[in-house]
Amino acid sequence: MIQASHRHIFRIACAALGPIARSGLSISLGIAALAVFTGGCGARTGRETREILSLKEMSREQRMVFLKGYRGDWRDSVDKNRGIPPPPIEKPWPAGAELVSLPDPFEAPAADVALVEAVRNRRSRRAYTAEGLTLAELSWLLWCTQGIEKIERNDDGNVVATYRPVPSGGARHPFETYLSVHRVEGLKAGIYRYLPVEHKLLPLRYDANMASDFKSACYNQEHVGRAAVLFIWAAVPCRTEWAYGIIAAKLIAVDAGHVCQNLYLGAEAIRVGVCGILGYDQQRLDSLLCLDGRNEFVIYLASVGRTSTGGPDSQAGGALTHETVRP
Ligand SMILES: Cc1cc2nc3c(=O)[nH]c(=O)nc-3n(C[C@H](O)[C@H](O)[C@H](O)COP(=O)(O)O)c2cc1C
Repeated sequence: MIQASHRHIFRIACAALGPIARSGLSISLGIAALAVFTGGCGARTGRETREILSLKEMSREQRMVFLKGYRGDWRDSVDKNRGIPPPPIEKPWPAGAELVSLPDPFEAPAADVALVEAVRNRRSRRAYTAEGLTLAELSWLLWCTQGIEKIERNDDGNVVATYRPVPSGGARHPFETYLSVHRVEGLKAGIYRYLPVEHKLLPLRYDANMASDFKSACYNQEHVGRAAVLFIWAAVPCRTEWAYGIIAAKLIAVDAGHVCQNLYLGAEAIRVGVCGILGYDQQRLDSLLCLDGRNEFVIYLASVGRTSTGGPDSQAGGALTHETVRP
């Protein structure tokens, strides 16, 4: 099923980029980049990986293909409309693995900030203290970002869609959430994967040095090393490709923004700081999480920690003045 779907996606990509090629621009880089960016499920060759390194040589017009999507009608070619069942909504985990139970997400003690206040106060906060988070706070933040409220199944009992605090195109939710835990009460430091169906954590690796590894993979951003925990979202493109084929990349990128915004707001509600992060080395992060970089790869992450004043810090630092403008 997957290979067939990729052949279709590739054919449509060629059709979409055809006019650009006719206008005299190189098409091979565009197709390779599009195939890698959207291509979650099928095997790819090393040649395409080398070509993606030349992304900076593409014209702006070619790069914008990802954002603008495909103008033709892609609907008949997608697996969903050909009666093929959807891929699983959650990556499988080893039978018998010892999962970590999480407290009721609504127990987070300080969840007392009204929504309006949380929205108004939301800022990126990076000046984390050495204090950790409680497990109840972590449970709340995981629920805000990827927790499941409702599961929809078909007549065969297969999961068709999940409904969560964040929206997702076609309710596909194409992410896995990894945590690099540095200071969370009751958890050993290391890497965990969140299992949204179970609302539990799957420990992947205990390691007390993850904070410095992630800091270095994020171009030595200080707040990454100081965070109590990092939320790292990996995209699993085939979940969205199943329904949206060639336009999946755009949906996945937009979905990721919703997830992190809920982390910001959920954290604001319990007076915890968050900073979204795209400044990172793709290959290093993928390899820290043992992701293959094709069927699953890091798309976004965020540092999370307590801040002493609760006040935002400056992105640029130095002698800037800030004027608060509020209605
Ligand atoms: C997609 C995205 C990527 C970002 N990447 C980083 C980053 O790598 N490092 C960082 O310190 N802040 C990062 N930020 C935070 C922005 O710098 C911040 O949102 C901006 O300065 C505005 O400040 P505010 O969030 O307090 O409103 C990112 C934000 C977004 C939305």
